[in-house]
Amino acid sequence: MDQSRTRLVMGNWKMHGSLAENTVLLDGLLAGAARVQGTQVAVCVPFPYLAQARQALVGSPIGWGAQDISTHERGAYTGEVSAAMLADFGVSWVLCGHSERRALHGETSRQVAEKAVAALGAGLAPVVCVGETLADRDAGQAESIIAEQLAPVLALGADALARLVIAYEPVWAIGTGRTATPDQAQAVHAFIRAALTRHGAGQTRVLYGGSVKAANAASLFAQPDIDGALVGGAALVAEEFLNIAAAVA
Ligand code: 13P
Repeated sequence: MDQSRTRLVMGNWKMHGSLAENTVLLDGLLAGAARVQGTQVAVCVPFPYLAQARQALVGSPIGWGAQDISTHERGAYTGEVSAAMLADFGVSWVLCGHSERRALHGETSRQVAEKAVAALGAGLAPVVCVGETLADRDAGQAESIIAEQLAPVLALGADALARLVIAYEPVWAIGTGRTATPDQAQAVHAFIRAALTRHGAGQTRVLYGGSVKAANAASLFAQPDIDGALVGGAALVAEEFLNIAAAVA
């Protein structure tokens, strides 16, 4: 990767954990945090555990974030969580448009961009997730799908783009054990980088996600346009997650 961009390794716990399990995981992360130098590390936890994450991680080098955000500021939106509520819990990061939310909850690329705007308005950094399905890839449409997903985000302009992060997560690599090869990932990251550069934001970080493990992290991070990782399953084990963060060269 380009050394001028601070590396970022982020865990997405998805719908995993409990107060007791999280205590073990957070304690393990804190115990090993010192061996990860020069890389930003954060975990995106389920909403009910934001208070627990804050209490454990405040003052440590590890940040915390949420996995979703409402596009609305306040009001009759049962079940939703606003940007201001996340800010109340000291959240720095929020995932926007994870493929599971696009697929299972019908989030559109326009809504995802609106979520990014809501996050930025409260001083949170959105992590906007994009990625193609296997059918898209097999049809030769990976880039056009990603371009469609990125378009409303790119339209937010250079200032907004400088304050957010893009995560490329090919849907076929998520939770499947089937990681994109470093070359496959780099090709898409270069495509995303070119789009960002055209919009005056060539230094926006682009993370890779999809079956990242300690064993494959270094070869992914060696690619010039991969600035870190968004990690699912392997983020649930402190040692494995820290090994991934430590693998950023
Ligand atoms: P896995 O690392 O479990 O494949 O999940 C990736 C992901 O979706 C992170 O957001």
